Amino acid sequence: MHQTIHKPVLLGTVLTYLAPERGNSYLDLTAGYGGHAQAVLERTQAPSLMTLVDRDETAVNALTSFESQGATVLHASFEEASVTLLSGGKRFDMILADLGVSSLHLDTSSRGFAFRTTGPLDMRMDQRAELTAATVVNTYNQAELEGILRRYGEEPRARTIAAAIVSHRPFATTTELAEAIAKVMPRGSKVHPATRSFQAIRIAVNDELGQLERSLPMWFQLLKPGGRLGVISFHSLEDRIVKQAFADMTGDRYDADYHLLTKHPVVADDTETVSNPRARSAKLRVLQRK
Ligand SMILES: C[S@@+](CC[C@H](N)C(=O)[O-])C[C@H]1O[C@@H](n2cnc3c(N)ncnc32)[C@H](O)[C@@H]1O
Repeated sequence: MHQTIHKPVLLGTVLTYLAPERGNSYLDLTAGYGGHAQAVLERTQAPSLMTLVDRDETAVNALTSFESQGATVLHASFEEASVTLLSGGKRFDMILADLGVSSLHLDTSSRGFAFRTTGPLDMRMDQRAELTAATVVNTYNQAELEGILRRYGEEPRARTIAAAIVSHRPFATTTELAEAIAKVMPRGSKVHPATRSFQAIRIAVNDELGQLERSLPMWFQLLKPGGRLGVISFHSLEDRIVKQAFADMTGDRYDADYHLLTKHPVVADDTETVSNPRARSAKLRVLQRK
């Protein structure tokens, strides 16, 4: 079942680097539909040593089969979960963060992530959160919108798009917004003209980069000696943060407590990108506590 809802990316590579063994403990910070977790569990055979985190209620509900086998499932952001686990003195042999949205987010129009199908302007990963895309789009001032589009979307036409949003709002649906953006964009690009803007708004709604920056230092501490941390990112903004944090922890220092297992990020091969388009932009970096 897990495989059909959301195909786990770089699964074989993740298993090679995290190297699960019987009895190992595992923390999955973005458990989603449990694809990676299931493969890890088959090797560790230790459900009670698994902690699975997701801030999306639909994903958490899909993880009940792990819970009934004895795993701990936390409906929380990975930042909140990491604080709780650290203060509870928990440590793990393997930690995985497979960042971003799931296929189900993108495919369920009512969640408001997709610009090709009509849905409410929502984009919250955690349905309990207050901030929605509608609030960002309909109430932020033009300078704030421009900043979001530039910073989180690396959108060269941020100023023009922000001005178009302000003059055409309020927007109720994803497609209304996508059409207003498309009107002020040059034609002929291979990707949909609203792609960068939607990414930017989604990152702002979910504070995705802030979550990552504040959580990475805790993940290093949550590793047992010998433990492995893998992070899969899906765009350059995330990857830059991971790369920098990993470099700071490992470096060339002879006394560093961690070492890099991936000198360069690992990407998917052609076979995987053909069968799973989400894998095209995936990059895996792994480090190990000494
Ligand atoms: C790419 S999917 C993970 C898929 C999973 N590895 C699998 O094999 O099914 C990312 C998941 O992480 C969750 N997520 C993203 N950011 C999060 C955060 N800051 N805290 C907790 N969960 C988060 C999303 O709700 C989504 O379900």
